[in-house]
Amino acid sequence: MPFEPILLARINKPNSIQLNGYRADGGYATFERALREKQPLEVVTQVKDSGLRGRGGAGFPTGLKWTFLPKDHPGPIYLCINADESEPCTYNNRILMEKDPHQVLEGIMISSYAIRSECAYFYIRYEYGDAYRNLQAAIDECYAAGLLGKNIHGSGFNLDIYIHRGAGAYICGEETGLIESIEGKRAWPRIKPPFPAIEGAFRKPTIVNNVETMACVTQILRRGNDWFKSMGVPPDPKNPRDAGSYGPKLYTIAGHVNEPKCVELPMGVTIRELVEKHGGGVWKGRKAKSVNPGGLSMGFAKCDLALKGEDGKTEYDIPLDFNGPGKIGCLGLGTAAITVIDDQTSMVDVLHNVCQFFSHESCGQCTPCREGTGWMLKITDRLRRGQGRREDLDVLVDVADRIGMMPGTTICGLADGAGWPVKTAIRKFRQEFEDVIRSGAKSVHSKSLQLVDAH
Ligand SMILES: Cc1cc2nc3c(=O)[nH]c(=O)nc-3n(C[C@H](O)[C@H](O)[C@H](O)COP(=O)(O)O)c2cc1C
Ligand code: SF4
Repeated sequence: MPFEPILLARINKPNSIQLNGYRADGGYATFERALREKQPLEVVTQVKDSGLRGRGGAGFPTGLKWTFLPKDHPGPIYLCINADESEPCTYNNRILMEKDPHQVLEGIMISSYAIRSECAYFYIRYEYGDAYRNLQAAIDECYAAGLLGKNIHGSGFNLDIYIHRGAGAYICGEETGLIESIEGKRAWPRIKPPFPAIEGAFRKPTIVNNVETMACVTQILRRGNDWFKSMGVPPDPKNPRDAGSYGPKLYTIAGHVNEPKCVELPMGVTIRELVEKHGGGVWKGRKAKSVNPGGLSMGFAKCDLALKGEDGKTEYDIPLDFNGPGKIGCLGLGTAAITVIDDQTSMVDVLHNVCQFFSHESCGQCTPCREGTGWMLKITDRLRRGQGRREDLDVLVDVADRIGMMPGTTICGLADGAGWPVKTAIRKFRQEFEDVIRSGAKSVHSKSLQLVDAH
């Protein structure tokens, strides 16, 4: 049976953003039923049992995160929605906010009820003007209809939602940077523990969740766990810590493809299917050289169809579930935003562009990140100008391996994200880098794929 999109089902309807259109499609009935018929803890348990993992990048189990809140806390407890969406080539949250804001708001209402929060902050990147305006209009409609405010439908449950527009920095998406920014400060990530569930916004217990995670909550409560678990990839029996990758997922396709777009598919679709079936193939009749499997910070896959792993699969054929990218030496699924790089593009240029981004976005608190991202930028700049040294490649991999939360040298994951594209590019495309160093040739493709404009 062909897959039926659910999260994106309404986006092309003429009145997709208005309350009456959402109501006509059964909208808010799930929230109202939860208020009438379920205790908050029942909602937490359902979301936990659904297997939903956060869509913001790390894939942390949503219901489990909610259980970390202190029991019987007198409040306030805050819910922060992360709509910073600054990972290059990622725009799945934007589509939901612009085209179906009520689906996201209903997820926020259900989640707030579940975690006993009476105040939700919607943190949205400043550049998303249409998304902001549509969301604010949708929130206003909800207040007017009694879906927000005091004693909603006589249930005794109160909820206010405030939109906070960010000032434009990638680090504002890191959950504690986001909290600092909501508090009116510079978005410097905090040292953890304490984690936000214990001490978050205004030092009170706080849950931070992604926009797509909220849309999934709406549909899980509406359609049930069996529906959610009927899609995706079950846990790997060989890995007792694997929670599986269930449900539908929004994938964005960008870079050198004929039809860049956001598509909804079951978790576990392959890179090949995304590029060739949904993205209309690589542009200009070329082949894919590399693909970012989930945002730049996840690193690079190599699309060499002659190279097969132990499982007999090429990197082009790995499934994009939470575990797939890790099997080919990438960090993870990240934002499920794939960026295609064609076979006429220089990986040296691509890497230099990536390093510009991370060096510019490092907040500067941790020396390994501040200096390491700057060092990687200087070296890749030298490489692309034809002045590379043979030892540069080992130095780059060494720096990339030593900065980040995983080696334990930084406060947040930005540094890890800066390291993965560097080490995967050099490990997988070393010959190309060596050829550039040996020939002393300047890169000629510097304008061919500007993934990000860091300035
Ligand atoms: C540098 C950095 C940037 C991030 N940017 C975002 C972002 O834009 N949106 C997002 O949802 N999560 C982002 N995250 C992940 C958040 O810290 C957090 O894990 C996420 O919002 C939790 O939501 P989820 O559990 O629903 O996935 C970022 C993390 C790091 C380290
Ligand atoms: S790792 Fe980088 S971005 Fe994160 S807190 Fe440290 S310096 Fe800032």
